[in-house]
Amino acid sequence: MKTLKNKKIWITGASSGIGKALAVALAREEALLVLSARNSHALKQTQKACVKHTSFCMIQPLNLSDSAQIQQAVQKVTEELGNIDILINNAGISQRSLARETPVDIDRRIMEVNFFGMVQLTKAVLPFMLSQGSGHIVAVSSITGKFGFPLRTAYSASKHAIQGFFESLRAELTDDNIKVTIVSPGRIKTNISLNAITADGSAHKKMDNGQAGGMSPEKCAKRIVRGIKKQRKEMLIGNKEILMVYIHRWLPALYHRLVTKVKN
Ligand SMILES: NC(=O)c1ccc[n+]([C@@H]2O[C@H](COP(=O)([O-])OP(=O)(O)OC[C@H]3O[C@@H](n4cnc5c(N)ncnc54)[C@H](OP(=O)(O)O)[C@@H]3O)[C@@H](O)[C@H]2O)c1
Repeated sequence: MKTLKNKKIWITGASSGIGKALAVALAREEALLVLSARNSHALKQTQKACVKHTSFCMIQPLNLSDSAQIQQAVQKVTEELGNIDILINNAGISQRSLARETPVDIDRRIMEVNFFGMVQLTKAVLPFMLSQGSGHIVAVSSITGKFGFPLRTAYSASKHAIQGFFESLRAELTDDNIKVTIVSPGRIKTNISLNAITADGSAHKKMDNGQAGGMSPEKCAKRIVRGIKKQRKEMLIGNKEILMVYIHRWLPALYHRLVTKVKN
């Protein structure tokens, strides 16, 4: 795919961080955009930045933990646009709590947004892609979808689930001209740690050192756009933390030593 001009692209989690930066980067490509998240006010800020570059940018508020809302959103967006060329499943919440202190309700809340929300939206959009004979589904996972990480048991599990689901989906869709890209960022400097949920369900409200020193969301978004154009199957995006993926695979004892030292 050489150009994204006039491609109909739906981005979740477009109110903040990577999703917001992606929306602006895709607007610069003159893609036609649908922006989703819960916070409509923040979505309007993203929209304001996008309409400087693209002719179409609609807001579709959406809470991914509400399955009725997902169905309604898909109906509204497809009524407006007819179909979706690229669905970018980016919205997600992180976690900062030890498993021993975290009630299973919190684990379910994380899975609901990060996994089931993404799966339901994908399954609702897929028939439109199948009937038009083309499409591209992007799932924003994490390097913690490749290995476990302390204080993020449910988060890491949700990202491992994303890896399994979308890798399998890619295999199923090979003959349907529908591409699947799994993006696994490392540390990106967004509000993810501020918004991460703790054992009692409240927000962590701290900018962790890892995020503070991470790659900018704009640089991350630029790489994702390049990956979408090249129809990459897998993308690892970040700085030296990406090495952990390879250390986990090839030097498991060293991975264990390093990961047990993680403090946030
Ligand atoms: N930043 C990193 O270091 C990093 C690393 C690896 C992976 N990631 C992944 O990158 C993605 C984007 O995260 P980010 O870093 O940009 O964090 P962020 O700034 O906190 O953005 C998260 C986005 O998800 C949306 N969201 C959260 N809960 C939602 C829900 N129930 N329904 C709909 N939307 C919801 C938020 O919007 P509202 O609050 O308005 O709903 C927001 O737009 C996530 O999937 C995250 O797991 C981030």
